[in-house]
Amino acid sequence: MSDASRNVHFNLHAPTLLRLESVTFYCLSTFAMKIADRTFIISGGASGLGLATAKDLHSAGAYVSLLDLNADSGSQIVSELGARAKFFETDVSDTESIKAAVDGTIAWVTQTGKEIGGVIAGAGVGLPGLIVDKKNEPISISSIDFVLNINLRGTLDLIRQAVPHMTTNKPAGPDGERGVIIMIASSAAFDGQMGQVAYAASKGAVAALTLPLARDLSRYGIRAVTIAPAMFDSAMTKMMGAKVKESLYKAMEFPKRAGQPDEFARVVRDSVENVMLNGTVLRLDGAMRMPARL
Ligand SMILES: NC(=O)c1ccc[n+]([C@@H]2O[C@H](COP(=O)([O-])OP(=O)(O)OC[C@H]3O[C@@H](n4cnc5c(N)ncnc54)[C@H](O)[C@@H]3O)[C@@H](O)[C@H]2O)c1
Repeated sequence: MSDASRNVHFNLHAPTLLRLESVTFYCLSTFAMKIADRTFIISGGASGLGLATAKDLHSAGAYVSLLDLNADSGSQIVSELGARAKFFETDVSDTESIKAAVDGTIAWVTQTGKEIGGVIAGAGVGLPGLIVDKKNEPISISSIDFVLNINLRGTLDLIRQAVPHMTTNKPAGPDGERGVIIMIASSAAFDGQMGQVAYAASKGAVAALTLPLARDLSRYGIRAVTIAPAMFDSAMTKMMGAKVKESLYKAMEFPKRAGQPDEFARVVRDSVENVMLNGTVLRLDGAMRMPARL
């Protein structure tokens, strides 16, 4: 700190300091992107990380449009959340299915007047398979397609179809922002394990497309952020055997536990509100680096 600025700092009278603090507070809240009274499209919103995100954004006053294959869970969540939630049975690997869900969401937005504030592309699957198995059989192309079609193609297709409805938003706040795209990668994008070629390829691609997506959308004031979680409690990780979980815990640094969906949702909320988060991949892993094998 220079002498001049130190003097300025220490010569302030209390009322001036208070005034300065209130100016600072005013500035921070002015720059935050607004969640309330905006609609967020959340794929995979009927379970796990997507559901926690939907509940958190909803509790902050958002309207949530949940896109998922699981219609039973989707309808139940909408009846719990009430009028600010809608469910669309959607298969993100099917372009027409996404189109129907986006069209349905836009029809809802037309009624409510709560424009699209963001997309959270959370639908995802894992299907382990070695590139070549013990019988020297290569991994089936159908299992590679299955994972890539949902995790990568489905993510990009949803974004592609939703974005034209965001570029026409009224610019908001001092930055003139029009919304945010949030994607879910995984630790496997960086340290994929044996048997994860397809999953790691899908998640690595999501991580890689984050910066060019932010660059494409910057002229509209739309941001792109990817979150890369390690092991979080969800339906996906419930299927893991005790032995697999135990060896994952051993690879953890601190804390030695699975992440909780609400801890993930808090990072989504900050990614929505904090306009400086853009074009980046946020690891959410307690310093865990996955070993080659479990
Ligand atoms: N839980 C973890 O440990 C973890 C770690 C890293 C990354 N992830 C990623 O987080 C995302 C959310 O996973 P989760 O852990 O909450 O799992 P989850 O199984 O609880 O939720 C995934 C949701 O996606 C839906 N879905 C699957 N295929 C779909 C399709 N074709 N169309 C529409 N919806 C579909 C499922 O019905 C489910 O509701 C996934 O992309 C996953 O790869 C999870």
